[in-house]
Amino acid sequence: MCGIVGYVGGRPCRDLLIAGLEKLEYRGYDSAGLSLLEDGRIDSVRAVGNLSNLRAAVAERRDEGAVAVAETDATIGLAHTRWATHGRVTEENAHPHSDEEGDVHIVLNGIVENHSELRRELIAEGHEFSSETDAEIVAHLIERHYEGELTDAVRAAYAELRGHYAFVAMHVEHPGTLVGARHECPLVIGVGDGETFLASAIPAFLRETRTVMQIENGEIVTIGPDSVDVTTAAGEHRDRDIEEVTWDEDEAERGGYPTFMMKEIHEQPDAVAETITDRLPEVDEVDLSELELSAEQVAGIRRIVIVACGTSYHAGLVGRYAIETWARIPVEMDVASEYRYRDPVVGSDDLVIGITQSGETADTLAAMRLARERGAHVLAITNVMGSQATRDADSVLFTRAGLEIGVAATKTFTSQVAAIYLLGLWLAQSRGHIARDRVAELIAELKALPRKIGETIEATDQHVRAIARSHYDGRFFLYLGRHIGLPVCLEGALKMKEISYIPSDAYAAGEMKHGPIALLDETTPVVCVATESPVLEKVLSNMAEVRARGADVIAIGTQGSELEIGDSADQALFVPETDWILQPILAVIPLQLLAYYTARLLELNVDQPRNLAKTVTVE
Ligand code: F6R
Repeated sequence: MCGIVGYVGGRPCRDLLIAGLEKLEYRGYDSAGLSLLEDGRIDSVRAVGNLSNLRAAVAERRDEGAVAVAETDATIGLAHTRWATHGRVTEENAHPHSDEEGDVHIVLNGIVENHSELRRELIAEGHEFSSETDAEIVAHLIERHYEGELTDAVRAAYAELRGHYAFVAMHVEHPGTLVGARHECPLVIGVGDGETFLASAIPAFLRETRTVMQIENGEIVTIGPDSVDVTTAAGEHRDRDIEEVTWDEDEAERGGYPTFMMKEIHEQPDAVAETITDRLPEVDEVDLSELELSAEQVAGIRRIVIVACGTSYHAGLVGRYAIETWARIPVEMDVASEYRYRDPVVGSDDLVIGITQSGETADTLAAMRLARERGAHVLAITNVMGSQATRDADSVLFTRAGLEIGVAATKTFTSQVAAIYLLGLWLAQSRGHIARDRVAELIAELKALPRKIGETIEATDQHVRAIARSHYDGRFFLYLGRHIGLPVCLEGALKMKEISYIPSDAYAAGEMKHGPIALLDETTPVVCVATESPVLEKVLSNMAEVRARGADVIAIGTQGSELEIGDSADQALFVPETDWILQPILAVIPLQLLAYYTARLLELNVDQPRNLAKTVTVE
């Protein structure tokens, strides 16, 4: 999750820009850079690693005599933290990017989906590229359209781009202007006294100004020290209200949400979009060439073994359905802390997948090492670059959820599930187990997930809050589901016990009659995952059994099944329709919210539950 800061005003801005980047560090990044315009020339500095490396690179430029950055009084500039998506983690791939003459500099967040075709066109016209990134295309496109008006050139470039992104551009001939464009990724304006900021999030400029203006999707904004002009992509002017942000420093870090957990629940559409988009380059193709698995290796996989702990284990359980259904490869699941001690039978025709958001969980790492020693190819799915898991694995698939501060995993879970969906589809496609039009159908559904996750949060939030109010003083929660709904229940129950401390259990609904039914009476809330699936009928019968014991059924259904589910439940929540295998990524959202609101009503610290700490990466 990259970060953008831009400034135009009356003060020297280099340090303001770096201070702004510091406030965006929590999003995670692997390189950073800035460009400053002064005396008719733009100078850039970029560095791999953290902001202290960028600062050191700026200082080095002084020794090299590049006065513009080291000693600058520049009052306009752009800065960026990059999390590698297209192209490796190198200085050349760090932002800002420019055209060959260095006249246009840009910083971009998100992904330009049609970058390959645009790059081919631009190369045919004689453009030369200096990075492997999709972002650099935008600088060249602006240059191609530039006829003296930066806003017009940005508008023309914007019209050619597909994907989800936000970018800001600066041109050497316009020392008092920055132009930004927003398409799905956030961009916000900070209005100061004789100065204006443009950033991907408010904390980047909150120390300098609390006056903000929002930019909506599909809008282009031109800012100067004393001006803000918002237009649509078609060039129509838009009036925009000014808002005053009342957050204190702590709230600012939380993006205005009361807790990190709530902020991270709301970041899930972005996190999933970042994880999937550039790996779906065509309407009917998944690209996971980053795994560096040859066609022979993929064809030779006889079995997949997934090892993980806690929430990551639940992501694996969801992934098992996707891999087995689409790729027809048998998948075994193991809790990593058990796997390592049972002398497992594993060898060279196994692909062993370790799922760990932190990349540092000791049991998962040990299980991965054991499998590798026995000859298996080990793939790590992780959120943290440079973590131990990335060093111990043969292949790595990164989720791109950004740093998760709340101890309870939320956005890392949905990103892991999204990553395994990609893997399942890629394996199916590579082994020829799935028809091209089915791949296209599923890719369209995958691409719609970020929007549907956002809709799920919006549609269920208030309703879940009311449900939490009726049950937060309960002594026990039971979660029941079958098939693809079972991992959702396991995850819902884990979240509930982890942050609300209310004992909670999850069961395969068919197991109810074998004992757990004894737990039920009229005081027990029973959460049933009854989303679209091949076993929905059976789940409905289980719900009837529960109600016959007087317990309250809280059902999670799929939109369109309101009548059927509503009749069988005391309270019901509905998530958008999608392919049944993809339903868990939506169904889990109300369960995250239910645990969250229950804990809040009990006045508990959801970000730091007792006895628990987030695993952090040791450098
Ligand atoms: C639950 C939670 C934990 C982690 C588990 C594994 O909300 O966060 O259950 O999922 O400790 O951690 P990672 O994924 O870092 O290996």
